[in-house]
Amino acid sequence: MSIMTTSDHVPEMPGFPGDYVTTVIDSVGDGVIVVGSDGVITLYNPAAEEITGFSRRHALGTAFEKLFSLETTLLDVVTKTLRTGITISDHENVVVRSTGKVKPVAVTCYPLVLADGEHIGAILTIKDITYIRELEAAVRQADRLSTLGTLAAGLAHEVKNPLGGIKGAAQLLEQELTPDSEMREYTRVMIRETERIDRIMRELLDLASPRGLKLSPVNLHKVLGDIMLLQKQAIGSRDITFFKQFDPSIPPIMADEEMLIRLFLNLVRNSIDAMGETGSLTVVSRVLSDYSMSQNDRRSRMVAVEVIDDGPGIPPEDLENIWTPFFSSKPTGTGLGLTICHKIVAEHRGMIKVESDMGHGTRFTVLLPLVQ
Ligand SMILES: Nc1ncnc2c1ncn2[C@@H]1O[C@H](COP(=O)(O)OP(=O)(O)OP(=O)(O)O)[C@@H](O)[C@H]1O
Ligand SMILES: [Mg+2]
Repeated sequence: MSIMTTSDHVPEMPGFPGDYVTTVIDSVGDGVIVVGSDGVITLYNPAAEEITGFSRRHALGTAFEKLFSLETTLLDVVTKTLRTGITISDHENVVVRSTGKVKPVAVTCYPLVLADGEHIGAILTIKDITYIRELEAAVRQADRLSTLGTLAAGLAHEVKNPLGGIKGAAQLLEQELTPDSEMREYTRVMIRETERIDRIMRELLDLASPRGLKLSPVNLHKVLGDIMLLQKQAIGSRDITFFKQFDPSIPPIMADEEMLIRLFLNLVRNSIDAMGETGSLTVVSRVLSDYSMSQNDRRSRMVAVEVIDDGPGIPPEDLENIWTPFFSSKPTGTGLGLTICHKIVAEHRGMIKVESDMGHGTRFTVLLPLVQ
């Protein structure tokens, strides 16, 4: 029995081409999959194709159990509804696309019931909640940053004064020592390390207090080119190749040049730090002309800059933490670099994201609006 038998009850739409019900179901943005009581798929809309990665042609006539043999939670939901006739929802589900990508989805399975009460199958709706999960992560991140930022600012204020005292005392001590005294090595360490703490404190204070942007038209390619040139000299004898793929059509963008230099310098340095003796670093720029919906709205046009390395990658369990202040895997890292990057991008009303593949490399993507 097919669900389309119910179309007998649907009024004809005058002048409407094709099957009205099919068109309606095909237009639904959520995936709709209908399974008969025998477990065989009888309907598969385009959104279901998009979310699951299986084509309608492949899915129709196939047993649901066979098509989704690896999706135990999905199977569970459908089997339960077919067996008991009750509606079941699960919003913590995961669908593995046939492309191999894991996609978070929310599913609800309804019993398919005829007017006389006979159960003839189940209707599964699948909602892609990738975007919702990303938003949730962004909110969690912003929350964490604001709490830590306030704490850090308080701490920085408290530490700055005694630190100045220690540095001053070390300088006085140094003056008391004879030029050839071995103790000079110690006073030098004291002064150098207090200066290091002072630098971290200044960065923290910077991070916690919005400075406001000094906007001017910035030549993005000059900023990126200069950074790459300087870093190329800084890598010494290491065999790291730099590649530029710049889109020449990118006009000057309205931004704070000093901040952009800090942003991209941090990203490029991180990549260089991550790579060993050999590696390649690629910086790509492009205009996102297809930036959805409001193409004609100048304000929403964005440029994307990607900093890509073929280093060891970032372990999946670290990915959420790299933006957190003081998260560092380096012996002398402050762990403030990416926190600062995140802030600079947010102040420019842009976005920054990271994709990393263990053993293959890391890609940071920065999206910036062309105009503020
Ligand atoms: N391209 C990359 N490849 C691999 N790991 C990275 C990469 N970029 C960042 N990371 C990881 O993220 C951590 C945090 O980076 P972040 O720039 O915030 O701090 P840091 O580089 O350790 O110290 P700082 O930048 O303050 O000197 C790094 O310690 C590293 O573990
Ligand atoms: Mg860094």
